[in-house]
Amino acid sequence: MAGPASVSTLLLRNVPLFAGLPEGQLALLTRVVGRKAFPRGTTIISAGDPTDALYIVISGRLKVMMSDDEGREVILAILSQGEFFGEMGLIDEAPRSATVIAIEPCELLSISKADFKKCLQENFDIAMAVMRGLVKRLREADKKIGSLALMDVYGRVARLLMEMAEKVDGQLVVTKKLPKQDIAKMIGASREMVSRVMKDLQTSGHIEVRGGSIFLREAMLVSEARA
Ligand code: CMP
Repeated sequence: MAGPASVSTLLLRNVPLFAGLPEGQLALLTRVVGRKAFPRGTTIISAGDPTDALYIVISGRLKVMMSDDEGREVILAILSQGEFFGEMGLIDEAPRSATVIAIEPCELLSISKADFKKCLQENFDIAMAVMRGLVKRLREADKKIGSLALMDVYGRVARLLMEMAEKVDGQLVVTKKLPKQDIAKMIGASREMVSRVMKDLQTSGHIEVRGGSIFLREAMLVSEARA
């Protein structure tokens, strides 16, 4: 990671994990937090590796994934600005549970295992923020298990699009690039099936794909509320 000089208290203040810390604590953190840019495609963490650091996303997006010996992949989550990863191994000392790869050029902060543990001991707010992050992940994982067991592929695609969408001018839109291949890996379906479902959702007026964005229409929100 880059030298400590590249991290300011202002930068750390904008990281949700550290936002509640007093100025003095932030100043101490600037000495132990590193900052580095990574090109798209870089593997930041590999499943099974020993654990050495926690990472925080300053910019860009990363995928958290698992794969088998035949190269089949499942995407567990897409992480973006403000989110952290690599905390699990720091907490239970087990090897990395998943692989994390940059899907866009990324800028990350990192903090070593020893420094992060010290930080947790001294700051209840940080410990709470980490727990909140873990609970959020557990809720998302529960939802995913529920949708895998209870929904057909239409329902799973619809739920994923709802989760990835953001409000733009009062409309729900998926603005970030979301290849069908990645949708398939996130919902446990084939790419062909996802293509068919997306086409059907467009024909039935549930979604509109325009200029690289996916617009969620009223009909989609109504059927999702019923599900
Ligand atoms: P760790 O096990 O140390 O290394 C891999 C990281 O991926 C893990 O910590 C978490 O930070 C992250 N991770 C694992 N599973 C999920 C998930 N389901 N959703 C989001 N992030 C995850």
